[in-house]
Amino acid sequence: GSEEDLAPRPPVVTVMGHVDHGKTKLLDAIRSANVVDKEAGGITQHIGAYQVATVVDEQERRITFIDTPGHEAFTAMRARGAQSTDIAVLVVAADDGVMPQTVEALNHAKAADVPIVVAVNKVDKPDADPSKVRGQLTEYGLVPEEYGGDTMFVDVSAKSQLNIEGLLESIVLTADASLDLRANPEQSAEGVAIEAHLDRGRGPVATVLVQRGTLRVGDSMVAGPAYGRVRAMLDEHGDPVDVADPSRPVLVLGLTAVPGAGDTFMVVADDRVARQIAEKREARERNAALAQRTA
Ligand code: GTP
Ligand code: NA
Ligand code: MG
Repeated sequence: GSEEDLAPRPPVVTVMGHVDHGKTKLLDAIRSANVVDKEAGGITQHIGAYQVATVVDEQERRITFIDTPGHEAFTAMRARGAQSTDIAVLVVAADDGVMPQTVEALNHAKAADVPIVVAVNKVDKPDADPSKVRGQLTEYGLVPEEYGGDTMFVDVSAKSQLNIEGLLESIVLTADASLDLRANPEQSAEGVAIEAHLDRGRGPVATVLVQRGTLRVGDSMVAGPAYGRVRAMLDEHGDPVDVADPSRPVLVLGLTAVPGAGDTFMVVADDRVARQIAEKREARERNAALAQRTA
């Protein structure tokens, strides 16, 4: 696509940090502060990623969060490639301060050239010391804006749901300041599988992140070794959607197999082409494995 086909897209955010510093709790707090609760009986899907909306400067802005369980965040970020994460939220518990995995996480983000927003969490605790966290991270080159640096630090409590909006605003402002997030919504869809599993009733179910183009029900796609026609798509509320635009995560039904986390997907002309590409990929992988074994 040419320059003028590009349209703004929401930032894709990965939450990282030391064990037990509150990554999961924070993702839950963000989700529950922003995702409208379903009627009784409605089932919230766990799709491994979700999008929220917030208002910054009187404009509605969306943010996509990738919800990676526990310590898999680094490996998953590596597997999916730096391409799929635009911003890293580094969670640091204010009572615990900077710990080994905090440093590992920030080194990862820096290596991938991904801007960092620091969420100083657990500020509800009596022994919380947010300024100590700022001092510690300054030594690692993350200098808070209020000290003249260019990293936004936001004090939050995932437990008390304190200042979640402030965190969302900082993510949007960081994206606006340091990234040019645009994609062509018109081209055929491409992106990456975030997680996938075999569902007893529904068959292979994959959460995919659309990175370019618009994915539609009825599209034929290849995702890693899997292919198929998109039978249905569900959003994070479990509601059916017909289209998914750039940066949107959706659950896809209709694939013939379960793609791996990090596998890229693309939409192709029809089922036959999808099958041919998938079969070629599989053969290539089989040969590579064979070559490795005989080497
Ligand atoms: P791993 O995935 O195991 O690395 O941990 P995590 O970073 O996802 O931390 P998790 O969200 O599981 O939180 C760890 C513990 O800290 C839990 O007991 C949470 O309830 C608690 N916790 C998280 N956020 C807060 C907070 O803001 N305040 C307080 N007081 N406790 C919190
Ligand atoms: Na934990
Ligand atoms: Mg966790």
